[in-house]
Amino acid sequence: MPAEQGNRRLRVVLCRGEYCNLGRRADRLYKLLDAAVSDINAGYSFAERPVKLEIANCLSMCAVGPNCVVYPEGTAYHELDEQALQQLIETHLAHLETS
Ligand code: FES
Repeated sequence: MPAEQGNRRLRVVLCRGEYCNLGRRADRLYKLLDAAVSDINAGYSFAERPVKLEIANCLSMCAVGPNCVVYPEGTAYHELDEQALQQLIETHLAHLETS
């Protein structure tokens, strides 16, 4: 991995635990997030992909779910809906697109 890449690699952890996925709401968020991450990573070789999408079973903040945390900053997003997820994508991911 190139040195400058190491500084910007992001881990996006979306909770799909029991509470966060009530009514399958986290599943819908995952579908949107996975598509956005796939689009961004498509412009990079496998080793240089700038975003890793992970699923959690619980992030221990169920009462304010659906939850998602973006690392390395550790920025937590609560009560996510499609609109808030779009904001997360624009804030953390959109600038990583290669074209
Ligand atoms: S189920 Fe998502 S934080 Fe607990």
